[in-house]
Amino acid sequence: MIKDLRLICLLIFLGVFIKLHTSSAEDEMQFIYHGFHEGEAANLHLDGLAEILPNGLLQLTNTSKQQSGHAFHPFPMKFSMSSLNVTQPYSFSTSFVFAIVPEWANGSGHGIAFAISPSMDFSQAMAIEYFGLFNLSNNGVSSNHVFAVELDTIKTLNFYDVDNNHVGIDINSLVSNASAPASYFSNTEGKNKSLELISGDPIQVWIEYDWNKKLLTVALAPIGVQKPIRPLLSFPLDLSLVLLDNMYVGFSSATGSIASNHYILGWSFNRSGEAQSFEYSKLPSLPRSAKQRKKLWLQIWLPIIGVTGLMGVLGMIYIVRKIRYKELREDWEQEYGPQRFCYKDLYKATKGFKDRELIGVGGFGKVYKGVLPCTGAQIAVKKISHESSQGMREFVAEIASMGRLKHRNLVQLLGYCRRKGELLLVYDYMPYGSLDKVLFSNEQPNLSWDQRCRIIRGIASGLLYLHEQSEQVVLHRDIKASNILLDADLNGRLGDFGMARFYDHGAIPETTDVVGTVGYLAPELTRTGKATTSSDVFAFGAFLLEMACGRRPIEPERLPKEVILLEWVFENWKLGEILQTSDPRLEGSFLQEEMELVLKLGLLCSHTNPAARPCMRQVVQYLDGNAILPEVLLEDADIGIVAMSSQQSEKLNLPFPSSFISVQGIFSDS
Ligand SMILES: *[C@@H]1O[C@H](CO)[C@@H](O)[C@H](O)[C@H]1NC(C)=O
Ligand SMILES: *[C@@H]1O[C@H](CO)[C@@H](O)[C@H](O)[C@H]1NC(C)=O
Ligand SMILES: *[C@@H]1O[C@H](CO)[C@@H](O)[C@H](O)[C@H]1NC(C)=O
Ligand SMILES: *[C@@H]1O[C@H](CO)[C@@H](O)[C@H](O)[C@H]1NC(C)=O
Ligand SMILES: *[C@@H]1O[C@H](CO)[C@@H](O)[C@H](O)[C@H]1NC(C)=O
Ligand SMILES: *[C@@H]1O[C@H](CO)[C@@H](O)[C@H](O)[C@H]1NC(C)=O
Ligand SMILES: *[C@@H]1O[C@H](CO)[C@@H](O)[C@H](O)[C@H]1NC(C)=O
Repeated sequence: MIKDLRLICLLIFLGVFIKLHTSSAEDEMQFIYHGFHEGEAANLHLDGLAEILPNGLLQLTNTSKQQSGHAFHPFPMKFSMSSLNVTQPYSFSTSFVFAIVPEWANGSGHGIAFAISPSMDFSQAMAIEYFGLFNLSNNGVSSNHVFAVELDTIKTLNFYDVDNNHVGIDINSLVSNASAPASYFSNTEGKNKSLELISGDPIQVWIEYDWNKKLLTVALAPIGVQKPIRPLLSFPLDLSLVLLDNMYVGFSSATGSIASNHYILGWSFNRSGEAQSFEYSKLPSLPRSAKQRKKLWLQIWLPIIGVTGLMGVLGMIYIVRKIRYKELREDWEQEYGPQRFCYKDLYKATKGFKDRELIGVGGFGKVYKGVLPCTGAQIAVKKISHESSQGMREFVAEIASMGRLKHRNLVQLLGYCRRKGELLLVYDYMPYGSLDKVLFSNEQPNLSWDQRCRIIRGIASGLLYLHEQSEQVVLHRDIKASNILLDADLNGRLGDFGMARFYDHGAIPETTDVVGTVGYLAPELTRTGKATTSSDVFAFGAFLLEMACGRRPIEPERLPKEVILLEWVFENWKLGEILQTSDPRLEGSFLQEEMELVLKLGLLCSHTNPAARPCMRQVVQYLDGNAILPEVLLEDADIGIVAMSSQQSEKLNLPFPSSFISVQGIFSDS
């Protein structure tokens, strides 16, 4: 009896054990390793030269010649639809950080491959150009079922390699199905930049497969640089034809007659969605290179110099710092305390206002990217030189009012700092820069219609906040695509409040100088000089047309009837062909009703009669489909609507299309 009980207990125990074990293996659909410390679940399957260094760094190969090393996740992943009983089988993504440190500066071999393979046994595979993945007889054989992305540092003619510094997509073969020289698209600079795989510096790779589009993309960038919005490789591929049900994921690396240390610092994988991003500070560091050792040696000399002239050096440093970080502070500024930044912090954030951190240059100064040392927050610092301190007090009061404006579709002004002859404004950092650059430049990916609609709604809600929901009525007075910035999620944010005016609710705006940008200026402004919420709505209308038509309000190089966007859209509307004016780059991929709504709303907002323009509250209702756009108002507008005629802009004698800036325009970027 007792024996039976024991047996039953044992069986239950075993049952639970097996259950736990299988479920943990099934849960292995995603993981992230910041280094591969022993005990920290990593437990990778290693062979060849591969080993894990004491600080958690995975070293795939050292500089032993013609060897290979592998590191694989120890459990197989399910990669087929039937075994998962799902309809969306393959979407996966992985990201890893690698570094290749060559033995000699004059060459490296051979490279690293991320691989998905039915087996972890690579004992039959060859090193050198075969990357430890295949051998002479099975290279190119479809029964391998191996998918790999190679980071190749040798040009192998047999495999038609493009150069000795490329990235390739390999299907069952080392003859890449797609490859390109290593480079990355810099989101901030809007251009491709080349990359040296063997630089010895950590580089991050993103590999993503979208089963819906059957598209594989590979991107890479130096560590710390944002994931490029344009991948290096985009390859249409049906992975279900390559992979089997149970597959292992990992890395393979090989050396040749020239050898390198191949390292992996971190690895993130998600079998069913976007891989988690790294906390870079948690990644292990690389062993010191010869270059760094030399640096260290120099550092030994520093104390000696220090001893000989300690007092002198310290004194010098003190004076230099004092001059470097000197600020201008006056008593009246005390009330703005929290918005005042310390120059030292801004100096450190922008690495001393290095040109490398420069993200924009405008008529009024330069804009630098920075990271605040205390919080790690990304900021943009606008550095404006000003001669006199006249009007500075009012000016800072205005900055303070702006700092109080808080809305997710406004670029947040965080604060300011003053030095002699210099004013610094601190904003949230907007990684994608200004909307007009993204919208009009063909180098950047063109925004889809859905993205544009989201930006339009965002800006409408930001403007509604300024007009009706904030403490005071805020007139922006310079709404246009170049004053709208895109945040990391491609949300539009209204920026550049250099011309903004604040009024109490119910107060009547005063006559002021006419400011704004030609093409966005409401016609009554030029007569009365009174900026109102309706003149902001007019400019918003011009912005709507820009978004729908993908062009600027005035383009002198076009056919005469198309030069003025507003007139052209209006003429087409009268002919019943308003959709003809939609952005040709969208190739018709938009909802017709939505496009029509935006175009017609753009016309209505641009009505000559300010009273006929909707207010921002109505605009938001029309955009959200909570009210129907009245067509009648458009119908009796036919003379009026041709508001911004070319004569008028000539009469104003404005330099066109650059903006016209008032005294307050000190913030203006354009
Ligand atoms: C590389 O590692 C292997 C085994 O880990 C070792 O035998 C060999 O000496 C190492 N080679 C170099 C050049 O350090
Ligand atoms: C697969 O899913 C269907 C419906 O969701 C279900 O009826 C079936 O039992 C599942 N099969 C397996 C093997 O889990
Ligand atoms: C690279 O440099 C090393 C030492 O500086 C030298 O021994 C080797 O021959 C060089 N290789 C090539 C391909 O130039
Ligand atoms: C190549 O690898 C395959 C499978 O790993 C093995 O069956 C075959 O014998 C190998 N061929 C050679 C020439 O090593
Ligand atoms: C990849 O290239 C090989 C030839 O190198 C070819 O046989 C194979 O069909 C290609 N696969 C795909 C999916 O393009
Ligand atoms: C940048 O690189 C991508 C991917 O290789 C390429 O398609 C694109 O044409 C390049 N753009 C420029 C401006 O060189
Ligand atoms: C993996 O992707 C799925 C689906 O997108 C997501 O729900 C999950 O949070 C992701 N896992 C991690 C660790 O980010």
